[in-house]
Parts: sequence; structure tokens; C-alpha cells
Amino acid sequence: MMTTSFYNEKFRPQFHFTPEAHWMNDPNGMVFFEGEYHLFYQYYPNGTVWGPMHWGHAVSRDLVHWEHLPVALAPDEHGYIFSGSAVVDWKDSSGLFGGKPGLVAIFTHHRFDEEAQVVRQSQSIAYSADRGRTWLTYEGNPVLKGEGIVDFRDPKVFWHEPSQHWIMVLAVGDHARFYRSADLLNWTFCSEFGREEGSHDGVWECPDLFELPVEGSAGDKRWVLIISIGNEEGVPEGSRTQYFVGRFDGETFVNEESADQVLWLDHGRDNYAGVTWSDIPEEDGRRLFIGWMSNWKYANLTPTESWRGAMTLPRELWLKKETGGIRLYQKPVEELNSLRVRTVTLQERLVAAETQLLLESGNGLLEVEGTVNVNESGAAEFGFRLDYASGQSGTVGFDLKRSTVFIDRSGLEGDVPFHETFAGRHEASVQGDHETVTFRIYVDRSSVEIFANGGQAALTDLIFPESEEFELSFYSAGGSVEIVELNIHELASVYE
Ligand code: FRU
Repeated sequence: MMTTSFYNEKFRPQFHFTPEAHWMNDPNGMVFFEGEYHLFYQYYPNGTVWGPMHWGHAVSRDLVHWEHLPVALAPDEHGYIFSGSAVVDWKDSSGLFGGKPGLVAIFTHHRFDEEAQVVRQSQSIAYSADRGRTWLTYEGNPVLKGEGIVDFRDPKVFWHEPSQHWIMVLAVGDHARFYRSADLLNWTFCSEFGREEGSHDGVWECPDLFELPVEGSAGDKRWVLIISIGNEEGVPEGSRTQYFVGRFDGETFVNEESADQVLWLDHGRDNYAGVTWSDIPEEDGRRLFIGWMSNWKYANLTPTESWRGAMTLPRELWLKKETGGIRLYQKPVEELNSLRVRTVTLQERLVAAETQLLLESGNGLLEVEGTVNVNESGAAEFGFRLDYASGQSGTVGFDLKRSTVFIDRSGLEGDVPFHETFAGRHEASVQGDHETVTFRIYVDRSSVEIFANGGQAALTDLIFPESEEFELSFYSAGGSVEIVELNIHELASVYE
């Protein structure tokens, strides 16, 4: 780990993953093996804007403290190393490990074919027999060629127990394709999904597919297909991530929700290309997700200096049955609770139409969990104001007339505006009985995340306040609300 002072640069997150230096985008190859969570990522080690892609690498034992490791994969004769996944090959089905378990990474090789003047994308393999410390690329690369298809990338591989096969989900322009294999090296096409379903606001990228139990049902399970959609000109939201809920039989995915309905995984602007960890032990049982906390609209322009790019908080995903259908819920992992250093608790406090100062933060780090009673309050809105010492401010709140949760970061772009779409208010609808509203909010210098209504809606937004210190206030507008309970946690930096 580098020293504290290095990580104390302006805007540097203190409990979100960032590369030591230089450019980072998508999380890649997340896998749990021998007590370590591996996180690889799209990395350009020679600059702070996107460039020839490598896989950077870090490991953690608690998803909170990360140890940086050397670059795992670098461009070779087949091209740049684009996004992909990793699995534990427990039974050495690939034959690459002499009968022992080992790690296999499956990723996209991307190159520009000078002769034909076209982009070529194909899937390749790398493997490690020493807990991910060193990697060899497979001699027979690539293992799955694009055959002239330009967008053919981001393989996510998992072991499908019922069919006894490895399954690969691939993003192919405007749809996803499913392949299967017995040995991770030879792949057979099974089916495709999605030309006519969900959002096509941008090219499909970074798929993931996994099964989850459905809370609120009698033991039902469903498959979730995650698809990120790239930034397209004219789409103000930029790059975003959608999901589908349905069935998968080892060959074909069937969407069980309506084809033109779009389900967003996050309603903020900065959660892209997220996928989940492979090989989490059964006794843990969680489905763990992390996303890249930026947006292709302005990712190359954000005002950080020595590094650029951060991950979202690691989150647990689950499914819940609602009246409108089965939906994906999320919450930050419990391991983050270890960051709490001091807690102020408020209970049963009536707040009239006013603003009350709650706390002054010196280090720019905060977690707030709360339950607020809004029954017959008449209030139109309530929430929190963040007033930074620099004079900038932002709001995280609930619009009770429209039943939405929102983040307004209009005043938090930094001294020098860097993109016309950055400023704004982002919202998500929250459903429920509306007697009480629950939420959990995290502030980490240059980000705000809110998880509302027990994980029903998540919003993730970058912010760029020019100072770390801020005042946190609670406000109610148009009437009173009752704070049932509020826990305001001051958090420690992982570099302390
Ligand atoms: C998503 C993405 C992937 C690609 C990678 C390149 O953000 O465009 O589709 O593999 O980034 O860095």
C-alpha cells in the first residue's frame, strides 16, 4: 500500500477502490479464491485517459481494504485486453493445472486490423496457478473469434451445475449470445437474446447472468441478466446498466417481464459496467456486485489529477417480488460497517418545515442510515443538505408528492465545469406503504450513494466539492416529518 499522504489528494475516495495512479474503467475478472476477493480492472498504466487496455489487479480479504498487485495482463500480439471474467477451474477441466484447481480469466482481445481497416474482437484465455500472482496467456488464443462482427466482447463465464457446462454470456452489439463449453477452451454457440428487448440506447456491453432466490415467494428462483448500455450521442443519461429477470435452462434465456419495459440497476449517473463475483463460497451465499463509478459521457474529463476512475461500493444483490413483478434489490456489503468510528443517534424527533444542522464533517466521509415517518405530514419533501466549506452544496432527499428519491448535484461540479450533462438532479421512484421511508447514504469525498426503501432503489453519483469539510443538515419542506431513527456515522479512511 502507498502512504496515507499519497491517497490524500483532492477528490481521492477514502473507502472506494481507486487505482494507485492512472486510468481505470470497468471491473473485470472478479473471483473469490483461497480467502481473497480478486478485483481486476480495465487499466491504462501510462496515462489518465483511456488508452491501450491492460488488466490492473488488487486483492482484498474484506472487500474494504485492498492490496494493489502488479498488472495481470498486458496487450500482446492479439491486441488490447478488454473486459471479461475469471473463474476457479476446480476440477481442472481445462487441463491447464495438472489436476489441481487454478484461476482462468476469459477476456476480449481487441485490435485494429490495419490491412482490413476494421476492429477485430475475439475471446481469449489466461491462467494462473499461483493465486492470481502471475498469469500466462493460453497458446491457442483466441478461443472464440468474432468472424467479422465488430462488437463481440466482455465474456462472463460461470459453471452451470444442472447442464454440467461452462456458460459464456457475450455482448454482441444489440444483443447477448450464450455459448457453452466443457473445458473453457472450446465453445459452442447456444442462443441469443435481446434484439427486441429492453433498452437499446447504446451498444450492449458487459453482461452477467446468475440465479437468485426470490424474496417474498415460496422458494422460487429466477435468473438475472445484467446488460450495460454504452454512451450514445443524444442520450443525456450516457452509459447505464439495465437488467432482465427470467429463466435460463443452460442454453436459452427467456425474459419474463414485458419486452419493452426497461429495468435500471441504478438511477444515478455513475454506475457502469458492473458485474458480480464468481465462486463466492456457498456458506456465504451472497451475490456480490461492483460497478465502475463513472459515465462514458465525461469519464475522460473528470477533474482528478494523478488517477482517474473509482469503483462503486461493493453491494449485495437479491430479488424481491413486488406487485409489478420481480425486481433486483441491492445494499452495500456489511463489511463496510467496520469503517464506523463515531455514531450520533436521533430518535423520535419531529422536524417542522425547517433545516436543522446535524453534524460537521472534517474528513468528507459519512454514512447516514434512517427511518422517517411521513404519514399525514403534509411535507412535500425532506432530506439532507451537504454544505461544503467551499460554498458548494448538494441535496439528497425524497420528493413525497412524486414518491421519488433523488440526488441533486447541480452545485457540486467543481470549480471548472467539465461537461454540460454533469450538473443535474437524478431520481428514482420508490414504492411502498409510504408511512415510513428508509434509506442509507454514503458520502466519500467525490461520491454520493443512496439505497432507499430497503434496497429497492439505488442512486450513485460522482460529486466534486472543492473542500472536504461539510455541514450535514436535515430539512423538511411544506410540512413536518418525524425522524423515527437516524444514525449518523463518521467513517474512517481505509488509508489511516
Ligand atoms: C465498457 C467497455 C467494454 C470494453 C471496455 C474497454 O465500459 O466499453 O465493452 O471491453 O470498456 O475498455
